[in-house]
Amino acid sequence: MKWTAAKIRTLKGERKIAVLTAYDALTGSLVDGADIPMVLVGDSLGMTVLGYETTLPVGMDEMLHHTSAVSRGVKNALVVADMPFMSYQPSLAMGLENAGRFLKEAGADAVKIEGGSMRTELIEALVANGIPVLGHIGLTPQSIKEMGGYKVQGKTSEQARKLMDDAMAVEQAGAFALVLECIPPELGEMISSALKIPTIGIGAGAGCDGQVLVFTDLLGISGKPVPKFVKKYADLYPVVSAALSTYKSEVEAGSFPADGQTY
Ligand code: KIV
Repeated sequence: MKWTAAKIRTLKGERKIAVLTAYDALTGSLVDGADIPMVLVGDSLGMTVLGYETTLPVGMDEMLHHTSAVSRGVKNALVVADMPFMSYQPSLAMGLENAGRFLKEAGADAVKIEGGSMRTELIEALVANGIPVLGHIGLTPQSIKEMGGYKVQGKTSEQARKLMDDAMAVEQAGAFALVLECIPPELGEMISSALKIPTIGIGAGAGCDGQVLVFTDLLGISGKPVPKFVKKYADLYPVVSAALSTYKSEVEAGSFPADGQTY
């Protein structure tokens, strides 16, 4: 069954929602094969697979290229494309046009946009034009220069109130779900209880309606430190490194290919 934004929305209160990022056809098909209902082509691809330091340099061409690849690898999951930095901030028209490109050219089913109350006009315009929107508030990595780094958000009561207002505004504008990133678990639970749409937490505690993790973090395949909120379900970096070293040694020793790998 192909997941739609409307079906994802109905999962609230029925069951928790697992979401995972993917960056190409291989990772998309692995996520889809695990029956995970929503796959996010995150702009985290800048750091996980493109070698950038932050998500800021990621552009539309890169996102379209990787979203197309994920779409080719996915049969059932809802494919959400992350709108990259400066693809929607300059104007409503630019946001609408670029979001449309993800659906028209890259096979995406929805887009994700960072920001709360300041994005309601854009979210309304996208939804009115048939483009489902996943909101994203809390720690929004496209704003790290302004936030002063990757810091937990909503720790003071004033910040918490602002995030609650942002969450309500994003829901009111028509988003089908909302990512809550790096906020205290009590606030994650409060926002989740207050909203009718599902919340998808990342470092926002168990009270959210779903959880999202970055593919390479979950598999422990990057060889780099991961944030505190990550649970590594595998530790693949040493496994892959050992396989590559063994391959090199066997080629150099002349023991690969053996008779069994020869026509
Ligand atoms: O870019 C990304 O992967 C994300 C998720 C971690 C929410 O925004």
